[in-house]
Amino acid sequence: MIKSWSYLEEYKELRKKILKSIDKTLRSGNIFFGSELKKFEKSFLKKNNLKYGIAVGSGTDALHLSLLGLGIGPGDEVITVSNSAIPTVSAIKSCGAKVKFVDVDKNYLIDTKKIEKKINKKTKAIIPVHLYGQPCDMDKISFIAKKYKLKVIEDCAQAQGAKFKNKFVGSFGDTGCFSFYPTKILGAYGDGGFISTSSLSLYQKLKRLRFYGIELENKKNKFNNKYYSNDHGTNSRISELQASILNIKLPKVSEWINKRRFMAKTYMKYLINSDLILPAEKINCRHVFHLFVVYHPKRDIIIKKLKKNKISVNVNYPFPIHKMKAYKKFCPSNKKDLANTERFSKGIFSLPLYPKLRVNEIIRVSNILKKILSKI
Ligand SMILES: Cc1ncc(COP(=O)(O)O)c(C=O)c1O
Repeated sequence: MIKSWSYLEEYKELRKKILKSIDKTLRSGNIFFGSELKKFEKSFLKKNNLKYGIAVGSGTDALHLSLLGLGIGPGDEVITVSNSAIPTVSAIKSCGAKVKFVDVDKNYLIDTKKIEKKINKKTKAIIPVHLYGQPCDMDKISFIAKKYKLKVIEDCAQAQGAKFKNKFVGSFGDTGCFSFYPTKILGAYGDGGFISTSSLSLYQKLKRLRFYGIELENKKNKFNNKYYSNDHGTNSRISELQASILNIKLPKVSEWINKRRFMAKTYMKYLINSDLILPAEKINCRHVFHLFVVYHPKRDIIIKKLKKNKISVNVNYPFPIHKMKAYKKFCPSNKKDLANTERFSKGIFSLPLYPKLRVNEIIRVSNILKKILSKI
């Protein structure tokens, strides 16, 4: 079976270091907010050339806390895409704001030409999603945001290490939100996330929001007390154990991204003359290929045949969010407006890709795919 993702081989490689670190961490006596967290936050910021930031409980929390931190709530509207993971939208709903969807372009990213049409007096923010590992056009998004005084929350959950014009994602918006869900570019063995920002005051506020609004560090605040809340917050701590695992995995990220990029190139080489629409790396962008997403109108037949050949593939995502029961009333959308989103959802599928996948497995997937395509 060729799996679409597995962490087992990576764990085999890192096992000794991880077990040693888990033991050291448990013996430190700190479950939360200890030296592993401090070390991780500092290293993550350095690696991604980001100014301030905090690790939180998940990527979903990173988005939700960003919205809360920026003061977005009931009566406000937030612009994003419907071709994304559910949490991009659930975070907006959780803070009480409404969603306005913009269609995606041929790279599956927010179509910047269509954003301005969706802006009105209630619009407060844009959440561009750097989907599948490819950055959105942050020049155009930043220009629009400045023109209409909107906040920008980058959804970097799938794109750690991606660059737009030589700058890392997460450094353009008011905040950048990362996920350490196990399948991601940097995955924990559990949940985790990160919020970056270049604003000191927002950083300090986000730090309080992740811990019930409690102020722990600013000694000048007379309400610096672990049983006193300064802001309405939540609990979004990441444990020392997960932070210690991330500290071991973080130095491997550049190597893993290079592998992903090499694997994507290999797929392209073998599939270039097939009927599939292949992903493209945009000019001036660094794609990190969290996912290798291809398109074919006969997707469902192809997937069935791949499964028969013991090749597992995913669909990211089969249902646009505006069509889901949980969200369709909350973010009604005109069908024509989201034509690409709807069309893509019926034809996209993600081929196996993770750093420990072997080149001969990529070649096997490509050859079987070509055979299937020649017969349908
Ligand atoms: C685009 C996108 N946004 C947000 C998230 C939420 O991250 P998490 O699963 O860590 O809550 C994910 C991951 O599932 C994602 O892919």
